[in-house]
Amino acid sequence: MNKLVTMLKIVTLSALLMGMMVLSAGAADPKPTLGNADCVKCHTAAPEAIAANGAAHKTQIGCQDCHAGHPPTVKKIIPLCSQCHSGKPHYNLSGCIRCHNNPHTPKIIKLANNITDECLTCHTQQIVKLKQVKSKHSALACSFCHNTHGKIPLCTQCHKPHSADMTAADCKRCHQAHMPTAVTYPSDTTNKMCASCHKKAFELHSKTDTKHKGVNCVTCHKDKHKAMPTCQSCHGAPHPARMLARFTKCGDCHNIAHDLNRWDTGTLKANTDKDEVVKVPKKSSRKKKAE
Ligand code: HEC
Ligand code: HEC
Ligand code: HEC
Ligand code: HEC
Ligand code: HEC
Ligand code: HEC
Ligand code: HEC
Ligand code: HEC
Ligand code: HEC
Ligand code: HEC
Ligand code: HEC
Ligand code: HEC
Repeated sequence: MNKLVTMLKIVTLSALLMGMMVLSAGAADPKPTLGNADCVKCHTAAPEAIAANGAAHKTQIGCQDCHAGHPPTVKKIIPLCSQCHSGKPHYNLSGCIRCHNNPHTPKIIKLANNITDECLTCHTQQIVKLKQVKSKHSALACSFCHNTHGKIPLCTQCHKPHSADMTAADCKRCHQAHMPTAVTYPSDTTNKMCASCHKKAFELHSKTDTKHKGVNCVTCHKDKHKAMPTCQSCHGAPHPARMLARFTKCGDCHNIAHDLNRWDTGTLKANTDKDEVVKVPKKSSRKKKAE
């Protein structure tokens, strides 16, 4: 724009401001004053933002504590944060506005997606986990996931659940956000949750007609993913020592935990149906191993 327009603007503004100051100051006071209540007559965004989310910048200070004077009389009226904030490591960070995007809404913090170091001035625990158990999350910046300060993202914003009946609330059962590969689970985890990845084990186990059917996946594979029980951890030594010395593996006679052999009459009768046809070759191959 040309200089003339700018000049005109300034002249008009000066006149307006002078008029207002005289008005608010009254005839008795020779010193013209522009009050906090006047700003809204010409500015809408800042007063609205402060009214809605000004936090301490609304309750503890006013416009003019930060903006002393006004153009054209006073040219520089944008304050430095350091005028009022000093004495903590946090206040030594550079570019306060990078995070406190709007000084009129100081607690609304939208973050660029590459910030980590600054977070550590206040949060110390998460980085310990991210470093202790290295995963692909360890390579992401904190603000890649937390892009608004204080907001916790759902895992399902970025990942698909393992099965259709799993919800975002289920993820935490097995994963921790800052060490997602260290999978653990509580003792009330259902077999179905494991089934999303272990179809074969799930199907065998659901079909078995032995008492292991009533034992949950996580009762045997306890607490931690890939944990393997020994039969003895639950059954101790169920047979005479001499027998166990000869046949060292429980599986030699019992097959596998998900599909124990049965020798009682009930099962022998069932030998005629399809299920048993599947079991027969397993037993013969087991015999071969034993020989
Ligand atoms: C009569 C209208 C009017 C009133 C009242 C008014 N302003 Fe302004 N203000 C303006 C105009 C016009 C500009 C743009 C001036 C310029 O660019 O030189 C401006 C600019 C500003 C700026 C930006 C300065 C910069 O360097 O970018 C701030 C901050 C500001 N005003 C704060 C205030 C505050 C605080 C009050 C109340 C105490 C107030 N204004 C009252 C008209 C007004
Ligand atoms: C805590 C200090 C602080 C307070 C209180 C404050 N401001 Fe500001 N204001 C600033 C800073 C810093 C900037 C510069 C922002 C930037 O560079 O993006 C600014 C910018 C402005 C601007 C110019 C840019 C814009 O957003 O339009 C205006 C106008 C303004 N303030 C008006 C006001 C008014 C009116 C009030 C009171 C209702 C107020 N400010 C209260 C610190 C403050
Ligand atoms: C004129 C003095 C002044 C200036 C300039 C100022 N502040 Fe403040 N600010 C305060 C006061 C007073 C408080 C409340 C006490 C405290 O938390 O220190 C405060 C509080 C805050 C808070 C916490 C808000 C809350 O409600 O808990 C943030 C964040 C903040 N300021 C950021 C900034 C940033 C960023 C700047 C620079 C853009 C800035 N301030 C400039 C005076 C100021
Ligand atoms: C990397 C982002 C980031 C930067 C850069 C940053 N802040 Fe903050 N600041 C935050 C976050 C996040 C909070 C915590 C807000 C909360 O408590 O909800 C905070 C809190 C504050 C608070 C209130 C709590 C306290 O510790 O007193 C003030 C005041 C503050 N910041 C001022 C500043 C000033 C001044 C600067 C620049 C020197 C600055 N901040 C730079 C992110 C940042
Ligand atoms: C100035 C200190 C400060 C800085 C810097 C800071 N925070 Fe915070 N943060 C806080 C405070 C204070 C809280 C509120 C604590 C609470 O509610 O328990 C908080 C809360 C959070 C929460 C929500 C916690 C919950 O339990 O709901 C997350 C997530 C978070 N911050 C992430 C970050 C990230 C990511 C960064 C860096 C971009 C960051 N913070 C920078 C002080 C800070
Ligand atoms: C903002 C996006 C985002 C959110 C939210 C998120 N992740 Fe991730 N996650 C990623 C990215 C990106 C990768 C790396 C993907 C790749 O390289 O294939 C990843 C990788 C993983 C991995 C594989 C780690 C490895 O080292 O192999 C697991 C497990 C994981 N996420 C679980 C979770 C869980 C559980 C949550 C919720 C607590 C979650 N994620 C939340 C983005 C996210
Ligand atoms: C892959 C995405 C992702 C990354 C990267 C990430 N977080 Fe988180 N963060 C989450 C999720 C999801 C939660 C919620 C965990 C829950 O509810 O169990 C969370 C929770 C938090 C909390 C609340 C308290 C807690 O520990 O549960 C804080 C604080 C936090 N994160 C800070 C950080 C900081 C600091 C960094 C960087 C060092 C970081 N986060 C990196 C996704 C992430
Ligand atoms: C019952 C426990 C369990 C639950 C619940 C669970 N996970 Fe997993 N998740 C695992 C296991 C175990 C692995 C690791 C498999 C491996 O070692 O490769 C895994 C791996 C992952 C991976 C990395 C490998 C891949 O498949 O891409 C992501 C991402 C993931 N889970 C996200 C999620 C999300 C999102 C949720 C919630 C909707 C969730 N998980 C719920 C047990 C679980
Ligand atoms: C996201 C898919 C996923 C989920 C959910 C999952 N697992 Fe796994 N699991 C795997 C993968 C992949 C392996 C590694 C397979 C391999 O090495 O051949 C594995 C390995 C195992 C092993 C060790 C197998 C061996 O040969 O050492 C056991 C035991 C196991 N899972 C049990 C479970 C249980 C119990 C659950 C439910 C609490 C579960 N898994 C949930 C994917 C998953
Ligand atoms: C986490 C504990 C646990 C582990 C590990 C475990 N079992 Fe069991 N087992 C049980 C329980 C509980 C029963 C049912 C006991 C009852 O009701 O009397 C059972 C029953 C049995 C039965 C009787 C089945 C029936 O239907 O009468 C046999 C045989 C057996 N287990 C063999 C094994 C073998 C072989 C292994 C290792 C491959 C093993 N178990 C591992 C807990 C376990
Ligand atoms: C009674 C204890 C017990 C129960 C219940 C159990 N397992 Fe196993 N699981 C074992 C044992 C013991 C092994 C090692 C093979 C063997 O000797 O039977 C094993 C092996 C595995 C393996 C690796 C070999 C394979 O078959 O793929 C996976 C995966 C597995 N179990 C997952 C599961 C899942 C999923 C469930 C629930 C549907 C489950 N287990 C229920 C004891 C159990
Ligand atoms: C030489 C074959 C053989 C070996 C090896 C063997 N068992 Fe058995 N086991 C049997 C027979 C036969 C039965 C009785 C079956 C029946 O009554 O249906 C039995 C019964 C059991 C029972 C059920 C007892 C009851 O009171 O119902 C358990 C539990 C058991 N065995 C666990 C084990 C464990 C654990 C091992 C390995 C340490 C093992 N067995 C090794 C042949 C064997």
